[in-house]
Amino acid sequence: MNRKGIILAGGTGSRLWPITMGVSKQLLPIYDKPMIYYPLSVLMLGGIREIAVITTPEDQSQFQRLMGDGSQWGLRLSWIVQPSPDGLAQAYLLAEDFLDGAPSAMVLGDNIFFGHGLPEALAAADAQTTGGTVFGYRVADPERYGVVAIDAGGNVSAIVEKPEVPPSNYAVTGLYFLDGRAPELAARVTPSARGELEIADLLEIYRAEGTLKVERMGRGYAWLDTGTQASLLEAGNFVRTLEERQGLQVGSPDEIAFRQGWLDRDGFAARAKLFAKSAYGVYLAGILRE
Ligand code: G1P
Repeated sequence: MNRKGIILAGGTGSRLWPITMGVSKQLLPIYDKPMIYYPLSVLMLGGIREIAVITTPEDQSQFQRLMGDGSQWGLRLSWIVQPSPDGLAQAYLLAEDFLDGAPSAMVLGDNIFFGHGLPEALAAADAQTTGGTVFGYRVADPERYGVVAIDAGGNVSAIVEKPEVPPSNYAVTGLYFLDGRAPELAARVTPSARGELEIADLLEIYRAEGTLKVERMGRGYAWLDTGTQASLLEAGNFVRTLEERQGLQVGSPDEIAFRQGWLDRDGFAARAKLFAKSAYGVYLAGILRE
């Protein structure tokens, strides 16, 4: 069964107030694109075309204005509302009908990944049909994240959310490949002390049954944070540095759709024309001339 995608773009963004009082965090710019383009691109690089976007009720229309039904990228987007942000594991309950038994790849709408070999890593995770895969990334400040402890055999020995004493330096990134049982298993998760259905608790169910794999994203990857004002700016600067140096865009759903063959030449040319006045469109037009 084909894997379906979920982008979780809810939340109040209160850690970035007042910036995010009037606009969803996941719509903020990361240099030259809205933030959500980057996680969307990750799912697309993983070959996923059927994607549900979960937003707050207030923000949904703005995301729809930006992304529509996804057909401009050869995608099928579904729209789901998260009435209140009650934890990441809740996404699987909200997306149960959409998933309809399919395995999923969920990405958090504020996570930015960059790295050589990402499509291959995604394909490897997709190939695992039972259980799940999470991606571990070494960070200097693991206590800010979900942390995965990995034993000598490379197996997950624990997953803990924002531990005071982290069992390792490996943060669990916001990209989760889970099998078709995720909604059913998420229903077993009970609210944590902070009142949320924690993704760590859902992952713990998989770990306990021995079906949770961890892939390490090595030092050749960037997993960028957008959780603070400073890291938001740094992420934008990172993208700008790469794009200006290479003349290649990071996180362009249009380019990926075209290169995946989901958008024909005419469809792609129409997109380039739509954006003709911005650097994004100039870049797309350049691809057409390749
Ligand atoms: C969430 C997850 C955490 C994960 C992080 C990645 O934390 O709970 O496990 O490491 O996303 O971005 P939050 O950003 O909601 O604090």
